[in-house]
Formats: sequence, structure tokens, C-alpha cells
Amino acid sequence: MAMVTAVLHRGVVDSDEPILCADDLGVLRGDGVFETINVRDGRAFLLDRHLARMVNSARRMEFELPPAEELAALAERALEAWRERSAGEGALRLVATRGREHGGPPTVFATIDPVPRERTLPRRDGLRVVTASLGVDADARGRAPWLLGGVKALSYATQMAVGRWAKSQGADDALWVSADGYALEGPTSSLLWLEGDTLCTTDLSSGVLPGTTSAFLLDNAPKAGLRTAERLITAAELKRVEAAWLSSSVRGVAFITTIDGAALDQRPDITAELHKLAGFEVPS
Ligand SMILES: Cc1ncc(COP(=O)(O)O)c(C=O)c1O
Repeated sequence: MAMVTAVLHRGVVDSDEPILCADDLGVLRGDGVFETINVRDGRAFLLDRHLARMVNSARRMEFELPPAEELAALAERALEAWRERSAGEGALRLVATRGREHGGPPTVFATIDPVPRERTLPRRDGLRVVTASLGVDADARGRAPWLLGGVKALSYATQMAVGRWAKSQGADDALWVSADGYALEGPTSSLLWLEGDTLCTTDLSSGVLPGTTSAFLLDNAPKAGLRTAERLITAAELKRVEAAWLSSSVRGVAFITTIDGAALDQRPDITAELHKLAGFEVPS
């Protein structure tokens, strides 16, 4: 059960209360957008960046969201209730579906759940990843906007499927690789790697989701004496970099320990800097 549920124009409701109709397109088609946001000290980290990405996702999917201020107010209603119940780390989901099949406004709600310890352990222990083919070239999503590159749409069945496949291979997560060999992102995370003193992430032209965590880290990396770059890297090159990480709002920053079973070099000093920059608490 979600610890907090808030619905647009209704406020906080009992988390067991039904809030969707059976013909909601979010359920029938995965037709909607969402954000998952880190909550610490009772506040939503990088809320503005998440709202901007949500607005852009809805624009790309050609449906109208309520104004960003209303979404922010909904998030704040949920956060108020959360603060009364917990001081711990939380995951705030903001969800907006296209609405019901025969018309009407988008269905918009927010939930906040506690972040289970196992979600944060990769900050301390790292991740074993296996490469998984995305099946299309790195420039395909730019040429085919209906593939919704860069959009955080509700339909995450493929991401969940590749995550299960990765686990069946004895790994912790997958790493999408384009048909032409570029390492792109995790199914629910951005890819970062180190080249000399340059912190790199995947060029957005490849259709990866613009990560709020990775963007924040790159914006702030100069404070840790790092240069930054957005570029493409092949999976073969990635296996030879000084260190690589997957980042996302809830998991935080997790160093990659192995790719397809081959050990990756580590930079614990940079991992510690990245945790510090983004304020992610590392579990003991
Ligand atoms: C496909 C994908 N890439 C990257 C990310 C990381 O984004 P953020 O740092 O905003 O959580 C996510 C987050 O869920 C994702 O689903």
C-alpha cells in the first residue's frame, strides 16, 4: 500500500480508495506520463526539473497537462501528509494519464512510498550489469518520434521485462545497447562514466531519457573539479573506462562493478564526490 495518495482536485485520499476508472487510458494503453522523485527531509529533490520533464513528455505525447503549478501543489499536498508520517527517504510518483477512453481531463495523482533499503544498497555495493540490445540504431529514435525517445511515458513493460531478463542472467540490471553498438542507459537509469577528469553522460540525440540526476551531477561536477561532456560511447569502449555509474532519482548513484561479467575499474573517490554532490545518503 502506498503510504500517501493525493488526487488532483481531491487532495489526500485513503490509499485503499479506488482513484481510476476501468476505461482510463493509462491502464488500457499505458497512455500517460509520470515522474519518480526522491524525497528527503520531507522535500521533493529537483522537483522543478521533474515537472519540466513531465510537461515536455506530455507535449511530445500530445495531451494537455494541468499547469505545472497545479502539479507542484498536488506534490506539496502529498508531501505535507508524508511529513506527518515519516522522516525517512521516500519516492514521490507524479502520474498523469490521458484520461478516460471517451474523453475528459487527464487523471492526475501523486503517491509517496518509503524507499526500501534494497533500492539504496547499490549506492554502497554497486551493480552488475548485462548489455541488452535495444534493437535499433542510436539515431533511430530521433528519426522515429513515435518511439518516444526522451519521453517518460507510463508504458514501462519493456523496461520491466529487460530488468527481469537481467536478473535471470545473474545480474542486477540491464544496460541498453543500440543495434550499432552504443551503450545508452539502464532501463530506469542514466549512464555516467569517467574519462580522465571528464564526467560524461550519453548524448540526448540518442533518444535516452534526459535524467534529472545525471543533469544535476553534470551541472555541479565542476565543484568537484571535474569537466563534463555529453557524447556517445560504444559498449566495448565502456568496458575500458576508469569508472562508470547508473544514476536515477530513487536509486541514486550506483557504480557499475561488472559489465557482462567483466570487472570494471573503480574510482571510489569520484563515487563519494557524486554522492556528496547530489546528497544521496549511502546505507551502512
Ligand atoms: C529510461 C530512464 N533513463 C534514465 C532515468 C533516470 O532519470 P532520473 O535521474 O530523472 O530519475 C530513468 C528514471 O526512471 C529512466 O526511466
